[in-house]
Amino acid sequence: MLCPVLIGRSAEVRALTDELDGAGRSDGGTVLLTGDAGVGKSRLVREVIADAAARGCLILTGRATESAVPVPFRPISEALMGAARSGIVPDARSTSDYRAALGTLVPEWSHPGDGDAEVSAVIIGEALLRMLSLPGWPAGLLVLEDLHWADPETLAIVEYLADNVADSRILVLATLRDAEPSAGLKLLRSLTARRAAMRVHVRRLAPRAVTQMAAACLNVTEVPRAVTRLLADCDGLPFAVEEILAAAVSSGELVRGTVGWHVNNDVVTGVPSSIAGSVRNRIAGLGRQARNVIVSAAVLGRQFDWALLPSVADVGESEALEALHEAHDVQLIEPVSADGGTFRFRHSLTRAAIVSDLLPPELASRSARAAEAIEAAHPGLPDVWCELVAELRAASGQTVGAARLLLTAGRRALRQGALASAIAVLRDAHKLLANAGNAEPALAMHVEEVLAEALALSGDYQQLSLLAEDLIARLNAIDPNPRRRQALIRIRAASARPEDNADAAAAHLSAATELAHGLDDLELASRIDAVGARSALAGGELDQAAQLAHRSLASAEAVGLSGWAAEVAVESLDVIGRRERMRDLGAARAAFERAHKLADKQALGVWRIRMLHELATLDMLTDGATGALMEVSELAHESGVLSIASVIDLQLANLWSLGTDLDRALVTAQRCERGAAQLGSSRMDVMAICLQALVAAIQGDCRGAESQAERAEAIMPDDAEVLATTIGQIRVLAALFRDDVDRAVSYSRAARVYLDKALGAPGRGRGFYSPSQAPVIARGRSYGLHALLQAASDGDISGAVALAETAGAAVSWNRGCLAYAEAVLEGKSGKTERATALADEGYAWFAPFAPWWNRLARRLVAPAALRDGWGEPVAWLRDAAAGFEGTGHDRLAAACRGLLRKAGERVPRSGRGQAQVPPQMRRLGVTSREMDVYLLVAQGYSNADIAARLFISPKTVETHVANLVAKTGQAGRRELVAHAARFAGSRSPEARTRLTQVLECVSSGCA
Ligand SMILES: Nc1ncnc2c1ncn2[C@@H]1O[C@H](COP(=O)(O)OP(=O)(O)OP(=O)(O)O)[C@@H](O)[C@H]1O
Ligand SMILES: [Mg+2]
Repeated sequence: MLCPVLIGRSAEVRALTDELDGAGRSDGGTVLLTGDAGVGKSRLVREVIADAAARGCLILTGRATESAVPVPFRPISEALMGAARSGIVPDARSTSDYRAALGTLVPEWSHPGDGDAEVSAVIIGEALLRMLSLPGWPAGLLVLEDLHWADPETLAIVEYLADNVADSRILVLATLRDAEPSAGLKLLRSLTARRAAMRVHVRRLAPRAVTQMAAACLNVTEVPRAVTRLLADCDGLPFAVEEILAAAVSSGELVRGTVGWHVNNDVVTGVPSSIAGSVRNRIAGLGRQARNVIVSAAVLGRQFDWALLPSVADVGESEALEALHEAHDVQLIEPVSADGGTFRFRHSLTRAAIVSDLLPPELASRSARAAEAIEAAHPGLPDVWCELVAELRAASGQTVGAARLLLTAGRRALRQGALASAIAVLRDAHKLLANAGNAEPALAMHVEEVLAEALALSGDYQQLSLLAEDLIARLNAIDPNPRRRQALIRIRAASARPEDNADAAAAHLSAATELAHGLDDLELASRIDAVGARSALAGGELDQAAQLAHRSLASAEAVGLSGWAAEVAVESLDVIGRRERMRDLGAARAAFERAHKLADKQALGVWRIRMLHELATLDMLTDGATGALMEVSELAHESGVLSIASVIDLQLANLWSLGTDLDRALVTAQRCERGAAQLGSSRMDVMAICLQALVAAIQGDCRGAESQAERAEAIMPDDAEVLATTIGQIRVLAALFRDDVDRAVSYSRAARVYLDKALGAPGRGRGFYSPSQAPVIARGRSYGLHALLQAASDGDISGAVALAETAGAAVSWNRGCLAYAEAVLEGKSGKTERATALADEGYAWFAPFAPWWNRLARRLVAPAALRDGWGEPVAWLRDAAAGFEGTGHDRLAAACRGLLRKAGERVPRSGRGQAQVPPQMRRLGVTSREMDVYLLVAQGYSNADIAARLFISPKTVETHVANLVAKTGQAGRRELVAHAARFAGSRSPEARTRLTQVLECVSSGCA
């Protein structure tokens, strides 16, 4: 399973390209690539070789190999023999003095009597210097791999070369593992100390790059979560990524199905044999005592506290230390810096390999001993100890004890708001108990009740509803008085996103009320009020919501605001704040702030994140600031509070879809779509898709917009709100950005029915997607567009404006649409000054968003302004024509020019780019805009990058590139890139790196 593309490493590639550039200018050098085994040194070397080959350089390569007795000059002779095989003959004049020495290493070059030639590092080094700078080659590249195994003679030659290539056209590139001591490493230190060589350290990949690499290996865009889990042990080593994936595929754990890759949980692959083998060799080399200690350490985990070792391995302190020394010498473990007593295995796979070699009884007894040692050393098992001991107990066969500890760990995680860990840990506990044949039904029930709470807090109603019914039924069997617990489960089920599950929430709530009836339980009654308040708010019954919330808050206050009362109070304040937000932002903030303080003090982790979200939303509503929202987003994603994380994604994608950074909007909307699918929230799913459609519409991709709109409609067919969005916003905008005004008008008229219907629907949308939270999301924007199009088509402007106001949509971006529409109305009745002022107002409302909104509105109202004599339609149209030209909205630009022409104005020339077209390109018919593209192509930018830089759509760039290919007579994009690069003489290191990437991308067919 080899990764087809290079992941990350742009800095390294840039450094190496610079060096190669240098060699081309007779500014040669020596570079040593260092890093762990499998980190990707050779992969980088391959990049440099490809680059050098493309430049036509002479390339020689050799490698050292692991052997008990190193063969002198081995890597050097290999490099020279390669040269000989490709037909290179040492130049008789310049290398004749050294030819005989070379003859001893290369049979093809040997002459009789060469056996007596003097062979030394200096002579071979000098011969190499001459050979690598033979005339006719732009530069010479000598690659020597794996110097940690090199013989002393080879190292001496490397040293000679390093000291003498400075003014030559030679780049010497060597690789070296630096984790273990070697003669090569010593040489490296001395060379870098005297600046005779440069060291480029190749680091392990960051987690995100690992995921990217897995995606490339599996040839998918999205790596399934389960696969990411498989890779948890790879430690950022590309080699381990490939090995783990390959092993999982061959064992059947990772399977390619019709819809992509999935993980078969019935198969467990274990450590790939390639990796286990090398660990086994090193373990075998340890003494008996040291092996015992290291195996015990492995049982404790990747990272371990050495103080535990004497009791776990049953040895004295000095023996334990001695063992650590030995293991450190063979690179099995390393100390964890900034901590005296902690060590860790160098790779998680090292540890896994050791553990996987233990026989089950040995693993069990060592695990039990380790668990006891930790319990003795850390009473109460704070922090990570609880989960670790649970793991050890499970490994030693004490399932129930392990499950009990996991329950504790799950409860703790829940309190901290770490929902994802809480859910994972509780599921593990549940699985353990199920595997143990349900020996402890009461414990299993407790685990599931806490799991239900975690699912409710994460908003995962799908999972929760399955669990809840089953749990309620089983409680009848094991608890003689189950009503209280059953009511609590119902309350939790009612609290999971009531805005999306209104009917189910109501049913759970009334069942809970019935169960609580006659129990005279204040907690239940208050919780029912608080959740009832949330439901009422979601259903638009504002007074009812406020009344219930104040009642539950009062009971919580009466009890003293701790324990359950704190949770009830926070939940009530949340409802109060959201109710207030519709009329008084200050009052809303006060409620959220009080709730946040309380959640913080009482360690109600998830509620704390929720309140931070509400406060951040208030910031956004107040002044459009997104900083706080982005921070909470990160926190919510990290903690696994998926419902909040996804809502924030929706809020941000929505906001960004109005700005110029459409890529960011798109990526965020896509992430939201994934979150919504996981939560089973169709409405959020639809909105995330609509935002993607919207981006396509703005970019002039009509077909893309249409197919996304259809996708959204298929998820919630016949839903008025959805249709009001897909017709009244997406299709309208797709038509407008192609300047099909008639079609836009008829779509907008068609959408009117659904806009009215959505308005009439009983109180929907008071939740996260309500106008108060994100006023111009989904159908909200259709109201603004509707008014604008009525204005453009001589329709009922005041009716449309009134409708927007009734819908609560007369805010923010929509106000821009409404102001321009009203300008038309006033202009028509002769109030030209008022009309001009309104147009200015419209401009100001749109100003914080992308510039195309003002251009679009002005293009639509300019005919009325010209006719009725208000505003500055000629200046607007000129500006809009140039702007649309720049963003690649050619039809809109043409329409503006058409309107100018009709008004008797001189029309600016079209197709104007920024660049001067030099004569030789002008002769080929290349336009100024195409020249812009050509120059960026020369610097190695991708189509997407060019689109972003020129504010045009990638599609338009594609067209320009196709024209350029035809006009310059090139065979394709790849050739055009080379042509452009030659033309531009572009040799800046940055440009070269990008060029390399583009060439790579082009050849793998992705550009
Ligand atoms: N940045 C990367 N992107 C994609 N694949 C990579 C990357 N780096 C390494 N690989 C892949 O990982 C594997 C191991 O890399 P490589 O052989 O370059 O490691 P190395 O550092 O040379 O190791 P060694 O010291 O054992 O020679 C190779 O199959 C390589 O193609
Ligand atoms: Mg290598």
